[in-house]
Amino acid sequence: MVKQRNSRVASRKSSSSTLVFTMLIMFTFVILILLGFGILSIPSSSNDSPKAHDLNSIARKTIERSEEEEEEEGRGEQWVEVISWEPRAFVYHNFLSKEECEYLINLAKPHMQKSTVVDSETGKSTDSRVRTSSGTFLQRGRDKIIRDIEKRIADFTFIPVEHGEGLQILHYEVGQKYEPHFDYFMDEFNTRNGGQRIATVLMYLSDIEEGGETVFPAAKGNFSAVPWWDELSECGKNGLSVKPKMGDALLFWSMKPDASLDPSSLHAGCPVIKGNKWSSTKWMRVNEYKV
Ligand SMILES: *[C@@H]1O[C@H](CO)[C@@H](O)[C@H](O)[C@H]1NC(C)=O
Repeated sequence: MVKQRNSRVASRKSSSSTLVFTMLIMFTFVILILLGFGILSIPSSSNDSPKAHDLNSIARKTIERSEEEEEEEGRGEQWVEVISWEPRAFVYHNFLSKEECEYLINLAKPHMQKSTVVDSETGKSTDSRVRTSSGTFLQRGRDKIIRDIEKRIADFTFIPVEHGEGLQILHYEVGQKYEPHFDYFMDEFNTRNGGQRIATVLMYLSDIEEGGETVFPAAKGNFSAVPWWDELSECGKNGLSVKPKMGDALLFWSMKPDASLDPSSLHAGCPVIKGNKWSSTKWMRVNEYKV
């Protein structure tokens, strides 16, 4: 008697779990059919993210955000802005503090020399009319402040500190400029140590009243859609431009993710019209760069 009751309970249990299982299967089918006909859809964030070449919406978002929040202590509010995908270019706002900018300028000031460009045959520096600024190099890891900045650059680019050349400090006075050029090398000599230049971090150490923009004349997209269009110089309107602002850092890539050279990374330093431009450049290599 007892035995019989037990088996009846067991069979009732198993039939109810079969029912639950069947209903689950049926429910899954219904969901799949609804998804198939597009009646249901899985929410996706890609619907509201800006399109690749829609510079307008990307830039507007940033403006809203910068107005929303107050400046904080030290380096102030930091945020990254996507400037372009062709070339891949990003601005890290308030990357350096005012003190760091002043430190770099004062360190470099006594050593400034007329800028040169690298000769692709001999690897030696030569005088050039395409580049009329003056500059100097600061050795990698030379002191605590520079090591801090170099670590921050490594974090921002995901490229190790050891792949970086020494920081270059540049000074452009009124009328001085750098004609359109690539940062990558077209020769064997310059790539012997460290390989190709893969990315550049350009840090603005001073504010400039007029001119001195970094312009990408070969960038894809509608240049005139940037919200700062009306503030650009004539030269700045020849492409996608970034206006120098003290402490901001511009990162752009000379190589595509497949390691081929990216001709859309062509860029120039527009002539300074009013004020004084100080900037610092960090070139990152594909491999370790030995100092
Ligand atoms: C580029 O953007 C500007 C400003 O938003 C707009 O007036 C112009 O029509 C756009 N041009 C093209 C070709 O989309």
